[in-house]
Amino acid sequence: CGIVGYIGDKQASDIIIKGLQRLEYRGYDSAGLALFNGKLEIKKGKGKVDNLRKLLKKEPVKGSVGIGHTRWATHGAPNDINSHPHTSESGKIALVHNGIIENYTSLKKELKNKGRTFHTDTDTEVIAQLIEEIYQDGQNVSFQKAVRLALKQIVGTYGLAIVHSETPDRIIIARKGSPLLLGLGDGEMFIASDASPIIEHTKKVVYLDDGEIAIVTKDGYEVKTIDDVSLTKEVHELAMSVEEIEKSGYPHFMLKEIFEQPNSIADCLRGRLDVKNHSIQLGGLVDVMDKLIGAKRLIIAACGTSWHAGLVGEYLFEHLSKIPVEVEYASEFRYREPLINEDDVMLVISQSGETADTLAAVREAKQRGATVLGICNVVGSTIARETDAGVYTHAGPEIGVASTKAFTAQVSVLAMMAIMIGQKKNTIDPEYAERLIEELDRIPGKVKQIVEQSDSIKRMAELFTYAPNFLYLGRTYNFPVALEGALKLKEISYIHAEGYPAAEMKHGPIALIDAMMPVVVIAATDHTNDKMISNIEEVKARKGRIISITGKENEEVIDLSEFSCPIPETEDCLSPLLTVIPLQLLSYYIAVNRGCNVDQPRNLAKSVTVE
Ligand code: G6P
Repeated sequence: CGIVGYIGDKQASDIIIKGLQRLEYRGYDSAGLALFNGKLEIKKGKGKVDNLRKLLKKEPVKGSVGIGHTRWATHGAPNDINSHPHTSESGKIALVHNGIIENYTSLKKELKNKGRTFHTDTDTEVIAQLIEEIYQDGQNVSFQKAVRLALKQIVGTYGLAIVHSETPDRIIIARKGSPLLLGLGDGEMFIASDASPIIEHTKKVVYLDDGEIAIVTKDGYEVKTIDDVSLTKEVHELAMSVEEIEKSGYPHFMLKEIFEQPNSIADCLRGRLDVKNHSIQLGGLVDVMDKLIGAKRLIIAACGTSWHAGLVGEYLFEHLSKIPVEVEYASEFRYREPLINEDDVMLVISQSGETADTLAAVREAKQRGATVLGICNVVGSTIARETDAGVYTHAGPEIGVASTKAFTAQVSVLAMMAIMIGQKKNTIDPEYAERLIEELDRIPGKVKQIVEQSDSIKRMAELFTYAPNFLYLGRTYNFPVALEGALKLKEISYIHAEGYPAAEMKHGPIALIDAMMPVVVIAATDHTNDKMISNIEEVKARKGRIISITGKENEEVIDLSEFSCPIPETEDCLSPLLTVIPLQLLSYYIAVNRGCNVDQPRNLAKSVTVE
């Protein structure tokens, strides 16, 4: 989500709308703003910031003080009511919030007992109501003090911008775990959750730290701790261009998204993986659970990277849930009179939720009576709406055309589904299921360890940028990863690359191997390790150059390799979540070395809405 605020002499709505548009890469499920116009006025609604812009064009609100928000729904449907700003019961307090209030249920209960009425499903409304309760209750409690006292009761994370109709000359902001900064203008102040909306107005900024509150007026600001101790803050000079800031300092969206994976996977697992009770809840599948448990077969359809995730899904569902799986290219499924009927379950996977071939497969399967489920990243997308049920990946907006964090989130959802169905069907040993759930929980931390080794992958990439061809080999769970590694390289560096099941190499591709040929071996699946070692020997015998992605302790493979990217040990069936990361980084650095346009590779589109 994104926050923008303005206080000065200009029209706040123009500045806020423009700022929110800059933050849209952080989510665009709904947008809204609150402005002082004699009284507090709120405009909000679901959908993109542009909808809000149009609404304001029809019903303009004047005012030079305001706060705005663009939301990426995590909890609570992305509808008009749940959009920010949220207000207190009297309507006098309005606020926008990034983050999650963990104890909102108990606070809500207490406030309800005190007679407060709630209008939304959000945790955010509780903050507005709590501040008002304290403000109205207390003698000599200023609005500012009420905010501080309320924040002391809150458990969770927040970036907050708050206004009160009785103090229209100020905005109060607060931060804990969710970034906020202040842009210092001349007779005007800007507030935002990152610098991108501010950079065009001023280069002078103050970053709020956790546990800090700022009282912002048009001529100044005062920063305090939550305990009311005044602080002197350093003023920073922004050195970046608008474009760079949107990428949070990363040179490309793709690199940013690769580095985001510890968080995006954690976001995907959050609220679903219950490690304490060793269980998994996927709310979007509750209504179709019987159908899934009884499924005689599962047909997975997707395109591109999502299709590769589907292939990992095939191994997962067959191994853990004992459901026979067929993985189809959505386009092929559609045009070959598929044998599918009301007894079948189809699962489609799509980051954008808009891919035309995948959507066509959904419609074809539905028309033939099948139950169709979706795994999508974009909330409210067409595929998400047209499928009977589904699971969002919640990886956050993916902007780089080459998909990275969407893939790991898709595989995370597939793993959760396969384990959950296996538990319900008793096709998985309970202790093994417990181990897998605990290990899934550790995956974000292990991904972090891998991205932290990016420098060594960067150095390695320099040595291989020359290569006109690449071969990627994997077995079982890591065969789809070999395909994905090759696709990444093709997409962004225009190097011809092929992914193969390692054993198939001897049936053709081995003829290509010579001293020029880099062969990337993904050797992280224990029960096929010996076979992989033989394959490596076969490549070496033909002077091929081995790059291996393998477990830290797999010394035999490491010794045989010219270069090795050691990854933390994990369960075989979860290894794609780790092995794919070095491959993403390798393709990224090679593409950069070759001067390619990483984020917008030639001929490709992020979302392919033509068949
Ligand atoms: C395009 C993108 C790929 C993506 C594929 C499927 O080709 O460039 O990165 O994997 O479409 O997209 P979807 O949104 O359905 O996952």
